[in-house]
Amino acid sequence: MNILITGGTGFIGSPLVRHLLERGDTVTVYTRNPDFEDDVGLRYVNRLDDVSASTFYDAFINLAGESIAEGRWTAARKRALVDSRVGTTEGLLALAERLERPPSALISASAIGYYGPQDDTPLGEEATTVDCFSHQLCAAWETAARRFETIGSRVCIVRLGVVLERDGGAFAQLDKSVQMGVKTWLGSGRQYLSWVHREDVIRAIAFLLDGKLSGAFNLTAPEPVTNRGFSEALAGHRRSLIGLPVPGFVMRAALGQLADELLLTGQRVVPERLEAAGFAFEYRSLDQALCALLAS
Ligand SMILES: NC(=O)c1ccc[n+]([C@@H]2O[C@H](COP(=O)([O-])OP(=O)(O)OC[C@H]3O[C@@H](n4cnc5c(N)ncnc54)[C@H](OP(=O)(O)O)[C@@H]3O)[C@@H](O)[C@H]2O)c1
Repeated sequence: MNILITGGTGFIGSPLVRHLLERGDTVTVYTRNPDFEDDVGLRYVNRLDDVSASTFYDAFINLAGESIAEGRWTAARKRALVDSRVGTTEGLLALAERLERPPSALISASAIGYYGPQDDTPLGEEATTVDCFSHQLCAAWETAARRFETIGSRVCIVRLGVVLERDGGAFAQLDKSVQMGVKTWLGSGRQYLSWVHREDVIRAIAFLLDGKLSGAFNLTAPEPVTNRGFSEALAGHRRSLIGLPVPGFVMRAALGQLADELLLTGQRVVPERLEAAGFAFEYRSLDQALCALLAS
């Protein structure tokens, strides 16, 4: 396949690009960074205008977005979070419209924040949503992606949970205090943390690329846990002894709205459509994932 990817330099995108190259795809990475060098099967572009109109892409993969967890959600930060996602998706659509043949498929990221803060009811893709900034951000991102349907592309939206791998993302943070012998949980600890191992993210994106499915897909492991459950499980593997909850008001004072929407609340998301389509998660339970993450 010939694939163009945004966010292909990031925590999910870099290993995804490696995976695609290993299986024989050719990949164009759209990045703001001018320092990357082309390699066999791999090209970097800094401007979508540099893509020739005669190029045919089997698929676009759209992962670009400013990090949502870094710093308070000020008005300026919220604008950057929206613009980096919706703006990039609109730029991709403009490219697709300029190409002689639009891409056959678009796989576009979204997040479980789409559902907003929820209780412990399992949420499939058709679940009702709770209005808040993270819902509005994801909904605008998904709406921009779905506009590819008007030019005939098959659109898959992946609502990503908290992606776990050793070399970055939330896991490195979550593991830090546990390594020092202290297990922490946030607020009540009863809020759900819908996690997914990065290897399953990469395999699921490849599964959607190769298939004929379309629509929204929850990309979370089948067995989500509570925030405290996560901490207990990790501490069990690391043999931590001391438990130290971080009170909600401390989180709120430090991080404001981000703490309320991302850390002190959660959602119990289940990958109904991926499982119904026959996708087999390699890491179904947190215990399986932690064994792999903490091996060696
Ligand atoms: N990791 C998770 O747990 C998780 C969970 C839910 C959703 N997601 C979503 O999945 C996507 C990929 O996640 P990730 O963890 O791989 O993110 P990441 O490591 O932060 O990488 C994000 C990518 O987006 C691009 N980017 C950053 N700011 C941008 C901006 N202002 N304008 C245009 N592009 C920008 C960067 O590309 P260049 O610097 O090369 O331009 C970078 O490669 C993100 O959109 C994220 O919101 C991730």
